[in-house]
Amino acid sequence: MLQMTGVHVGYGRTSVVHGVDIEVADGGVTAIMGHNGAGKTTLLRAAVGLLPVRSGRVSLYGEDVSKLRPHQRVRRGLAYVPQGQQSFGQLTARENLQLVADGAGSAGSSRMADALDLFPALRELLGRRAGLLSGGQRQQLAIARALLTGPRVLILDEPTEGIQPSVVQEIEDAIGTLSAGGLSVLLVEQHVGFALGAAGQYYVLESGRVTRSGAGGADQEADVRAAMAL
Ligand SMILES: Nc1ncnc2c1ncn2[C@@H]1O[C@H](COP(=O)(O)OP(=O)(O)OP(=O)(O)O)[C@@H](O)[C@H]1O
Ligand SMILES: [Mg+2]
Repeated sequence: MLQMTGVHVGYGRTSVVHGVDIEVADGGVTAIMGHNGAGKTTLLRAAVGLLPVRSGRVSLYGEDVSKLRPHQRVRRGLAYVPQGQQSFGQLTARENLQLVADGAGSAGSSRMADALDLFPALRELLGRRAGLLSGGQRQQLAIARALLTGPRVLILDEPTEGIQPSVVQEIEDAIGTLSAGGLSVLLVEQHVGFALGAAGQYYVLESGRVTRSGAGGADQEADVRAAMAL
């Protein structure tokens, strides 16, 4: 499992995340909620090694990975889908997937089949340039691509942000399927109802600090909304 302990992260002279402790349980969904600018993306970038921790520790299945580079963390089972439906727009959907599948060696083709089973709509779109896909389709492509690395912990940064409702449901269903299959998911999500419904454990981040945490469940929604002043 993924653990962050006493983690401080910042940009230049600005400190953004001030001593955060989170634990992503083995299997199931762990949700992080918080307002815009709370530091959610900054925390995730530190988890995957795209930003250094200034102090504190990131560990993965007991190993301190704080000093490891992003590709080394990927090799140890961490996958990250950034905020904003990113893909290589000039490449086709198939090429976007193939780039990662090729690196996965003999497991690549079976992982590709599994990822396309999870998002069947993508099968029809494989020949289309990623830049011409809808936001929701690009998000599905980005999640599928992350799965090709064979992760044990999948980190998703606001996967349903700005996406049409019909596709939001497909993405939420896919997250449920993945976690039911044993994958650990760290989900940053503004949609509190979905996040708590899916999560075994949740954290609320405010101004770079955890201000509330606990066991998930739809019954927590009213309390969490009140605490977040939503
Ligand atoms: N590259 C950067 N350089 C300097 N400051 C940054 C940078 N990226 C983010 N910040 C600042 O860090 C703070 C936290 O930003 P972050 O993107 O982590 O928030 P967030 O919780 O992910 O917000 P959102 O919900 O809008 O995605 C903000 O004050 C932001 O302005
Ligand atoms: Mg963010």
